[in-house]
Amino acid sequence: MCVVVSINVGLPRNVEWQGKSVRTAIWKRPVHGRVLARRLNLDGDRQADLSGHGGEQRALMVYQLDSYRYWERYLNRSDFVHGQFGENLTVDGLADADVCIGDRFRIGDGIFEVTQPRVTCYRLGIRMNHPEMPALVVSHRRPGFYLRVLKEGTIGAGDQIEKIADGPERISVAEIDSLLYSPDHPIDALRRAVRIPALSPGWQASLKALLKAAEDGRSTGNAGLSPVQPPPLSWRGFRPLKVIASRQESEDVRSFDLAPLDGSHAPYAVPGQHIVIRLRPRPDSPPITRIYSLCGSPTGGIYRVAVKLEGGTGSKFLNEHVHVGDTVEASAPRGTFTLATGTTPVVLLSAGIGVTPLLAMLYATAGDEQGSSRDVWWIHSARDKAHHAFAGTARSLVAALRHGHLLVIYSRPGRDDAPGVDYDVKGHLTLPLLKQIGVPQNADFYLCGPPRFLADLQTSLSTWTEASRIHTEVFGPLVSFSPGVVDSTNGIPHFPTGIQGSGPIVSFARSSVAVHWDNRFKSLLELAEACSISVRWSCRTGVCHTCESGLIDGQLAYSPEPLDPPSAGNALICCSTPTSNVELDL
Ligand code: FES
Repeated sequence: MCVVVSINVGLPRNVEWQGKSVRTAIWKRPVHGRVLARRLNLDGDRQADLSGHGGEQRALMVYQLDSYRYWERYLNRSDFVHGQFGENLTVDGLADADVCIGDRFRIGDGIFEVTQPRVTCYRLGIRMNHPEMPALVVSHRRPGFYLRVLKEGTIGAGDQIEKIADGPERISVAEIDSLLYSPDHPIDALRRAVRIPALSPGWQASLKALLKAAEDGRSTGNAGLSPVQPPPLSWRGFRPLKVIASRQESEDVRSFDLAPLDGSHAPYAVPGQHIVIRLRPRPDSPPITRIYSLCGSPTGGIYRVAVKLEGGTGSKFLNEHVHVGDTVEASAPRGTFTLATGTTPVVLLSAGIGVTPLLAMLYATAGDEQGSSRDVWWIHSARDKAHHAFAGTARSLVAALRHGHLLVIYSRPGRDDAPGVDYDVKGHLTLPLLKQIGVPQNADFYLCGPPRFLADLQTSLSTWTEASRIHTEVFGPLVSFSPGVVDSTNGIPHFPTGIQGSGPIVSFARSSVAVHWDNRFKSLLELAEACSISVRWSCRTGVCHTCESGLIDGQLAYSPEPLDPPSAGNALICCSTPTSNVELDL
C-alpha cells in the first residue's frame, strides 16, 4: 500500500546564486496535521515561477522515498530532508516507472490525477547543491510528477494512497519523460502519448511537435523542445564569395551582390534568411562578424545584402573598403524567419533597413505560381524619399502581383517628396491605419524594423490577430530568458571583467563582441553572461534546449553530453566549451 510520508509547503523567496538573486519556492518544509489541497496548490504553498511550475496542471509535485534512497547512494549523501526535491508530497510507493499519466488516486478526502513529469530546471540544482541534478533526474528516469486536483480535500502524512482509475494508454511517468528528453522518439509511443486526455497541454504540444517531426522525417534536433527547425545549411562555417556588383540604394544604404568564386549559382536561400559575413578590418585584431538579411531574389543564384551606413565598424568597413571584385567570407543562409508557403494572405511590414528580409519574401511571392492567387500587402515606413531604399524595386514587384497592395509611410517627408507618388501617408504605422486600408485579420504578418517599431506593432497587432500569425525578425541581440533571476537586464555587451583569456576566439555575431575563451568559465553560457550577451536558458545542463543557439562556425566539446543533441548547425551553449575559434549567432 502506498502512503503519504510527508506533506511539504513553501513560499517564494530570494536566494543568492552565482552573484545573482533568484526567486524560487523550491525550498519546502514538512507541515504537521492536515492540509487542504486546493485546485491550484496546498494551503501555505506557492510557486514562484508560474511559467515553469504551478497552475491547475501542476498543482502538487510528488516524489518518492525510493528515489531519496537512490540519490543518497548515488551522490553519497545523507543530508536529505523531506521536501528536498521541491515536492509537496513525499510518498512511499508510486515509482515513476509504475505510475502512468492519467492515473487517478484518492488521498484523504481529495481526488488527484497524474498530468506530467516534473519539468526540470536549474533551481533543482541549486536546492540540491548539485548543478547537474536537473539532467540526472531525467537520465536516471526519476523525475517525479505532478498531480491535478480533481476534488479538493484535506490530506496529511500517513494517509493511504488508493488508486481509483488507470490512465489510458498506460504510459508511465518515466517513459513519457524519456520520450520527450532522450534521443529516442518512437512514433508509436508518441501517437499513444498524445491520445491521453489527462496529459497537460504543454506536454501535449511538445509531443505533438515531436510526432509531426517524426512523421515529416525530420532528422536532427528535438522538435518538442526546440520546435522551429532551421532549414538545412548549404555549407558549414564560412566560404569566400566575390562582390560582383554594388549599388547605392538610398542615402544611407548600399547593396552588395555576392557570388561563388567559380561562377556557379549560390545555393537557394529561403526567403527571409540571413548570412553572417566575417570581416577583417585590422589584420592585427580578431575578425568581426556581422549579420545581414538577404534581400535579392531567392532564385537569382547570388546573395544580395544591404548595409546601412551608421558608423559601426562592420558597415563602415564594407562601405569604404569593400569593392566590386573583392572577396568576403560568408556563412550559408541561416535563420528561421522565413516565409511560409501557401495561399494565406501575407502582410509584409517593414521600417528602415528592416526592408531587407521582407524584400526577399516579396520577390518570392512575385515569382511564385501559388503566389499569383495570394493577397500580398507591402507596407513600408521610411523617414523620407532620400532614406527610402529599394523604393522602385518594391513598387515594380508589387505591380507584378495579381493581388498586390502597397502603402508607403514617410515620417518626415522632404520638401520635394510627392504625396501619392513617393509616399501615401505622412506619419507612423498604426493598427487603425492597417484596418482602414483593409488589411485582412487572418493574414500572416511578417515584421522587421527598429526595436521600437517592432515592439509597438507587435503589441497592437496581438490585440487584433492570433499571436501565431505574427512573425518578427530581430537584427540585434535576442530577448533573454533567465527564469527566476530577479534582475536579469543586460547591459551593453562587453569584454569579461578581469584578465582576458588566451583560448580560442569566441565571437558573438549579433552582439558584435569577440573575446578569447578562458577556462575559468564552465561553459559558453557562462562566458556569454560575463559579457552581458542576451542568452536564453533554463536547466543549464543539456536537457531542455532553451539555450539552443546557432553555431555558425567552430568546434565544441560537451560536458555533460546533451541528452538529445541540438539541430545540425546549432549548439547547446550551457554545456559546451570551444575547442577552436567559434562564431555563435548570439
Ligand atoms: S539551458 Fe537547458 S539545455 Fe541548455
